[in-house]
Parts: sequence; structure tokens; C-alpha cells
Amino acid sequence: MAAFRNPLLLLLLAAGLAVAGAGCRGRETGRVIKLAHGLDVTHSVHRGMVRLGELLAAKSGGRLRVEVYANGQLGSERECLELVQLGGLGMTKVSSSVLEGFAPEFKVFGLPYLFRDAAHRQAVFDGPIGREILAAPERKFLRGVCYYDAGSRSFYTKRPVRGPADLRGLKIRVQESPMAFALIRAFGASATPIAFGELYTALQQGVVDGAENNPPSFHLARHYEVCRFYTLNEHTSVPDVLVVGTDLWNRLTAEERRWLQEAAEESAVYQRGLWAESEAASLAAVQSAGVEVIRPDRAAFYTAAAALRDSVRDDPVIGPLARRIGEVRP
Ligand code: GCU
Repeated sequence: MAAFRNPLLLLLLAAGLAVAGAGCRGRETGRVIKLAHGLDVTHSVHRGMVRLGELLAAKSGGRLRVEVYANGQLGSERECLELVQLGGLGMTKVSSSVLEGFAPEFKVFGLPYLFRDAAHRQAVFDGPIGREILAAPERKFLRGVCYYDAGSRSFYTKRPVRGPADLRGLKIRVQESPMAFALIRAFGASATPIAFGELYTALQQGVVDGAENNPPSFHLARHYEVCRFYTLNEHTSVPDVLVVGTDLWNRLTAEERRWLQEAAEESAVYQRGLWAESEAASLAAVQSAGVEVIRPDRAAFYTAAAALRDSVRDDPVIGPLARRIGEVRP
């Protein structure tokens, strides 16, 4: 397990278990839930989690508090999930792509052009399918609490990508996700899995020729300093997911669980309200820093990814979920 290869994580894990159990500590002054993630502190998703902490403290009269560790301080997304599974960390926020390794239901969000638009996507996350998928990793000691909006992902590269043919032969970084891997291969590029926190250096050193992400992450992780072309093809709309360990969840009273669930959902509404503006601001910022923003013909990318959509049609988990998602009307 990765946590045991990383001495810092091992220490944290030992401390988490020794002092608190279940990622909580300090019972006298209210319990503190540690929450780790990989994004910058100016990112709307980070601000959503800060709001979650404020809401939870208010609802619980200070009995439950959240301490947020940003910028991958406690490890990569997979490492944080493993810590949460073991009870050394209370909560984490990851991309749903990384949850594919813990519950195959999350793979459906990795399908290209799954949603018709933002309203469709939000209706799915807020509805019964969204809730069903959040509950899927329980058997792996993880429980999804809410989704944060992560918009749509697009390619950024060192040389211009104006259509899918320009991706052929490029080395593109992917998340630790079988679907992301398959998608990059469907576009004819070669996929290299790299943790988000290591990507800047990997791009700089030429380990990969490009990557893909939403505008705020491209901007706030400063990847635009290395990749000067951003192709808004919006191939996937993979959400961010707030995850709590079942170890911690099962130790909360029914009332505490309700506070946490409500605070999370309210924080998600708050974050969603920030998203559109943060996306526009990030696009403007990279453009004024000299990045060429390319608005390609999305239909060409849609067609290039057709084989991937066809290949999962008969998958017993993804096939039915994708069909049900297609039927959702906002
Ligand atoms: C998005 C997502 C992160 C994730 C990153 C990635 O920015 O919000 O949680 O780490 O993509 O590509 O790894």
C-alpha cells in the first residue's frame, strides 16, 4: 500500500490512529475531522470545503470541526483514499476518476460526452443515480458524501491540438483511471499515469507532452506556464467527490451524520455558485498570460471517441448506468 512507502504518511497514519481513531481528535474542544485534497487554496472546490467546515461548526455548536489540508500535503488522491480507508484520515476530496479503482460505478463519469449540458450533469449528480454512485464504495470502507462541480476537461499541450488527429503520437498524462487511459488511447495518443501534484515537473521535464483538465486546475496549478495551447474540446465532465471513511461515519451519532450530510450538500451548492465565474476568470488569466485558447469542432472529438462508448455498452455496470443517465431530464 502506498501509505507504507511514504514515511510522512505512515507517521500521520500512526498519529491519526493513536490520538483519535477515525480521523478525529480533541474531544474536549470539539472533534476535528481532518480533510485532505490536492487543489490550491484559491480553487472554488477548496473554498467549498472551507464553507463545509463553517457550516458544520455552526450546525453542531462547535462539536464538530473540519481542518482542511490542501495542495496534496498529505499525499496523492489515491494515497488519501487509502488513509481514509484505514481510518488515519477522516475525509478526502478526490476526482471521481480515482474512485474507479474503488468502485467501478464511477467509471460511467469517465465516458466522453456523457452529459448534454451543465443542467443535465447537475440533475444527475443531485438525483437518485448520483446518490447511488456515491454509496457504491461502502464495501471498500468509503462513503461519497457530495459532488463538487469540476466542469469539463480539455486538452492542454506544448504544440497546438486543433482536432483529434493532432493528438496522435503525443504522450498525455492521465489520472489513475482506466477510463481516462482508454479515452486517451481512443484519441490515438499514449497515456502516462502521473499524480496531479507531480504533473508540473513531469510537463517541464518532457516526461509528457500535455495533459487535460478544467480551466481552474490548468490555471491554478500553473501548468499553463509549460503548456501554451489549451483546446476546449470538453471531452469529459468528471466531478469531484467528497469522501468520508465508514470508520468515522459509523462512529458519528445520527444527528452528527445529518449535520455533516447537510453541511456538505449546502457547501456543494455554494461551490457550484462559484464555478462558472472561476472558470471564466481562469480562462481569461491564461489567455492574458499568452496561452492560445483553441475552440475546436467538438463533433470531431465526439466521433473519435465513439469506439470507447460502444465498447462499454454491454458492460454490466457502466452500460445500464449510462443508459439511465441518458434518460434524465433536468
Ligand atoms: C481535477 C480535480 C482534481 C484532480 C485533477 C487531476 O482538477 O479537481 O481532484 O486531482 O483534476 O487531473 O488529477
